[in-house]
Amino acid sequence: MFRTVVCDMLGIEYPIIQGGMAWASDHRLTAAVSNAGGLGLIAAGNIPDEDLIHEIRETRKLTDKPFGVNIVPIAGVQLMDRIKVLVDEGINIAATAFSDPTMPVISELHKHPMKVLCVVPSVRLAKRVEAEGADLIVASGTEAGGHVGRIATLPLVPQVVDAVNAPVLAAGGIGDGRGLLAALSLGASGVQMGTRFLATKECIIHQSLKALLVEATEEDTVVTGSVTGSPARCLRNEFTDYWLTKEKEKGHMAKDELQREGLGRLYKGMIEGDMENGTLPGGQVCGLIREIKSVKEIIEGIMAEAEAIYKSMGKAQA
Ligand SMILES: Cc1cc2nc3c(=O)[nH]c(=O)nc-3n(C[C@H](O)[C@H](O)[C@H](O)COP(=O)(O)O)c2cc1C
Repeated sequence: MFRTVVCDMLGIEYPIIQGGMAWASDHRLTAAVSNAGGLGLIAAGNIPDEDLIHEIRETRKLTDKPFGVNIVPIAGVQLMDRIKVLVDEGINIAATAFSDPTMPVISELHKHPMKVLCVVPSVRLAKRVEAEGADLIVASGTEAGGHVGRIATLPLVPQVVDAVNAPVLAAGGIGDGRGLLAALSLGASGVQMGTRFLATKECIIHQSLKALLVEATEEDTVVTGSVTGSPARCLRNEFTDYWLTKEKEKGHMAKDELQREGLGRLYKGMIEGDMENGTLPGGQVCGLIREIKSVKEIIEGIMAEAEAIYKSMGKAQA
């Protein structure tokens, strides 16, 4: 029923994309999403190029469906080397986030047969990545897990839809069929989800984090990193409390200190399961997560729920 332009562009069955998630979207989650009819994205994060090659090859062993790779401009990563890996490995769907105008990432990717998805937090950036040639624009609201801007999904998506010609996906706060339907109503051609896919059987994050996602309410996330210029929404814990206190006390003076202290925390939280001292990116949609499901159950559930709501819309309520 909800087959959109994005399905044709990416060769997928349902307009549901699993956003790249550092340490979480490896070959297992990526392949599971693609096998279930969505689009899985391997997160390159800051893993070495050899590990990324391994992830791509392992994904291919698990699925013959389309999948892509998310590359991000973070410390220690040479984006041009990443692009070479993608090209050498025959990847034809690449996703980037918060494009840096000083680096011609999109045009470089487009020297090859590649569809490029760009995540943006504002209309201004949406226009810029479209001018750079983005094929698909993911408008990501401040509700999202991970790096965020300041605009919420509800006002952001229709404004981006109005401002660009490229198809738009909605991200940030989407976790069920109601979210998909809302996104389509706003003019989006599909959704990108992250947090909901963390709490799945196929995701490799620590069991304690999955349990925390099930327990968490919509009030249990905070945004840290405003002073470092790289705000991110995470589940609240001792480390975010410490971080926010430092930001309040020292403002921008705390930037270098906090950046140093943040190193390695993602792995500590997500993989080692240190729920208090690790960094745990997660979005406000965590309040909707009530059980750990398989990726297939989630995707089929979303499609069925969206269809049922759509069919009952406008009918008299009992
Ligand atoms: C644990 C986690 C890690 C993330 N890592 C990345 C990343 O490496 N690259 C990226 O572009 N986005 C990253 N994101 C953002 C997601 O790709 C996605 O856009 C976002 O989670 C959507 O919002 P939602 O969490 O409300 O579904 C991450 C999100 C989470 C929750």
